[in-house]
Amino acid sequence: MSDMLERFIGILPKTASINTAGHLEIGGVDMAEIVNKFGTPLFVYDEESIRTQCRRFTKSFSNHDDRSKIVYASKAFNSIAICQIIDEEGLHIDVSTYGELETALRAGIDGSRIYFHGNNKSNEELEKALDGKVGIIVIDSFDEVKLLSKIAKQKSIRQEVLIRLTPGIKANTHQYLITGDIDCKFGLGIENGAALEAIKEILNDDNLILSGVHIHIGSQIFALHSYAKAIEIAAKFLKYVKKETGWEANELNMGGGLGIKYSQADKPSTVEELAKVISKTIKDEFGKLSLKIPLIAVEPGRSIVANAGITLYRVGVVKDVVRNIKKEKSVIYTYISVDGGMSDNLRPILYGAEYEAIVANKANETPSGIVSIVGKHCEPGDVLIKEANIAECQRDDIIAVFATGAYGFAMASNYNRQTKPGVVLVKNGNISEIIKRETIDDLLKYDVKLFDNKDSKL
Ligand code: LLP
Repeated sequence: MSDMLERFIGILPKTASINTAGHLEIGGVDMAEIVNKFGTPLFVYDEESIRTQCRRFTKSFSNHDDRSKIVYASKAFNSIAICQIIDEEGLHIDVSTYGELETALRAGIDGSRIYFHGNNKSNEELEKALDGKVGIIVIDSFDEVKLLSKIAKQKSIRQEVLIRLTPGIKANTHQYLITGDIDCKFGLGIENGAALEAIKEILNDDNLILSGVHIHIGSQIFALHSYAKAIEIAAKFLKYVKKETGWEANELNMGGGLGIKYSQADKPSTVEELAKVISKTIKDEFGKLSLKIPLIAVEPGRSIVANAGITLYRVGVVKDVVRNIKKEKSVIYTYISVDGGMSDNLRPILYGAEYEAIVANKANETPSGIVSIVGKHCEPGDVLIKEANIAECQRDDIIAVFATGAYGFAMASNYNRQTKPGVVLVKNGNISEIIKRETIDDLLKYDVKLFDNKDSKL
């Protein structure tokens, strides 16, 4: 990796380099050139980085448990092409809506490799899941036990399920990303007895087969002790369940949540460390209580795709604003406006997320000072990077924002009637368009006129 990119190691896709033209290159493709064909904003994914992460997960967990399952949480980024890659790499897939499920099925993923999540699965979604022969449905409420049982009975299916537990843990992450806390909308509480009661109901139900439990404590988690704590709580609970019902879990699914490096200050744990902590704690805690050691499943989303993806924007207006800190002292503040923003990356405005960027067509140039990279939306909070140290730039330069591969396109919107960006995959100098850029006609396809303009009575 070139010296200029060294400070972004761990943030950038693995294949990132700077070519002789001084342009950023990913997967052997020039990032300043690619926009001439595919336009901006554009999401670019490095296939090698995605596949490497899949293999790292598979290898690190199977080193500890050869029955382990790696389940890609497709909410991080779902498309037919990504499902195909995930399937080829031998991962299972987690879906949480009809749309994610249908995408996985149309990608040719066998239903048996799909986990279906969600705190409010509809009749239609459960029917679809059963028709698609989904391997595991993760039950999230009493209501769902009854509804799923009824639908399974109608279809003469005995459906394998996990039950999602709320362990009562506050993982150290953004408050919107904590899901293991006792008052969370997900799962069934251990402490209040709901989880045990639901387990008894499932065990007494002829249409459902309970194969294990699921815990997802949250997302973008750096310190791994919360995983260990959750396992300790689960083991104690399962010991009690065994005493009450005789049932033991075959599978302990620890959800996703491994944090990634967005900025140079981030110090996430590694996949290998996660695998070690989870597998060792399971062996220790379950062993101590003389419980059967369950197979380990994990559901990484962000840590599979985040660093594989970047977003390319074209610079428009560059504006200097004078800020008077004190009367005698003024500071020039530069806003670099790009042609996307919160409609393709909601994370800065929603979670205060921080990103790194460079000017893709000036990748060898030394950063010239701090600027703000802002979007084009009608909100002052539409700021992609508040303080970016990048090369001096002008209209038509191309800015690359790194680590946007997870929850970027997945949470994109049409705010201000902005059309959604395209998505391409790069590998060994080849480009595959995997999601076409939305056109203005696509956007207006569902609008219905109230009257023909010539008929207006006004
Ligand atoms: N499993 C379950 C049940 C989940 O709810 C999630 C994420 C995952 C796995 C994957 O977690 P990951 O490995 O990606 O952290 N929009 C937020 C993230 C929301 C995560 C929702 N659930 C963001 O942009 O940070």
